[in-house]
Amino acid sequence: MGRLAGKVAIVTGAASGIGRATARLFAREGARVAILDRNGAAARETADDLGRAGADAQAWEIDLAQGAAAEATIAVVAERMGSINILVNNAATYVLRDFYQMTSEEWQTVLDTNLTAYFLCARAAAREMRNHGGSIVNICSVHRIITERNSGAYAASKGGVAQLTRNLAIEFAPDNIAVNSISPGFIRTPMSIVNGVDETTTENFMNYYVKSGRIPLRRAGLPEEVAEAALFLASRECGYLTGADLVVDGGLTITL
Ligand SMILES: NC(=O)c1ccc[n+]([C@@H]2O[C@H](COP(=O)([O-])OP(=O)(O)OC[C@H]3O[C@@H](n4cnc5c(N)ncnc54)[C@H](O)[C@@H]3O)[C@@H](O)[C@H]2O)c1
Repeated sequence: MGRLAGKVAIVTGAASGIGRATARLFAREGARVAILDRNGAAARETADDLGRAGADAQAWEIDLAQGAAAEATIAVVAERMGSINILVNNAATYVLRDFYQMTSEEWQTVLDTNLTAYFLCARAAAREMRNHGGSIVNICSVHRIITERNSGAYAASKGGVAQLTRNLAIEFAPDNIAVNSISPGFIRTPMSIVNGVDETTTENFMNYYVKSGRIPLRRAGLPEEVAEAALFLASRECGYLTGADLVVDGGLTITL
């Protein structure tokens, strides 16, 4: 029997990268999986893939930056798939922009997607979970600890996710809902492709992070490796874990 047998899981941003790997792993472990993504075609493709492998997976095309739509969709998911046990807040956007050039609209889009949507989805899912308990996993980033130029909105949003996670762990504890986060380092997904170049394969990345040992494991991570951490948190195999953050970065943030 799978580690998530009989559970209903929502994974946002599951049409690509870490979200897709998480949806796939959860389905393999017996969960029914709802895929929420603004890229409808890729979301349906992911759901179809999982369906062909024998899973119950359904896709919803939704722009999570549009506020209330997120809450309404989660209510519909619960109606169609059953009461929700697991939410993985994962969908996010990265705007690489010189700080002086960043527009208020760009700033707002990043905060709406990466932080406000996490809050709205968590609240809507918790309303479903409060009768039976559950697990919320927020995909954060090492940008909550360290950051770099041209990443102001993204770093601010991830700092917010870190603190939102701790606060929700307190708010939802009486309802037996665990809230934890994961902070990935460099992971090879479409998000690491900047201006058509996968930044985890550039000479600069290899010299600065890999050959120098700044990433002690001397490589970028894979989406499946983050999915494994999400499975551990979602499964609640450690019942005493809430308000914690798992750093999945090959050791990046422990080096000078
Ligand atoms: N890839 C990395 O190196 C890395 C590092 C640290 C943290 N993360 C975090 O991991 C998570 C997943 O990132 P990824 O690398 O898999 O990215 P990705 O770009 O491969 O996937 C992101 C998915 O989110 C969806 N999405 C974006 N905005 C949306 C919106 N407004 N509404 C609905 N769906 C939306 C996209 O369509 C896409 O399918 C994000 O929270 C990201 O911040 C990634």
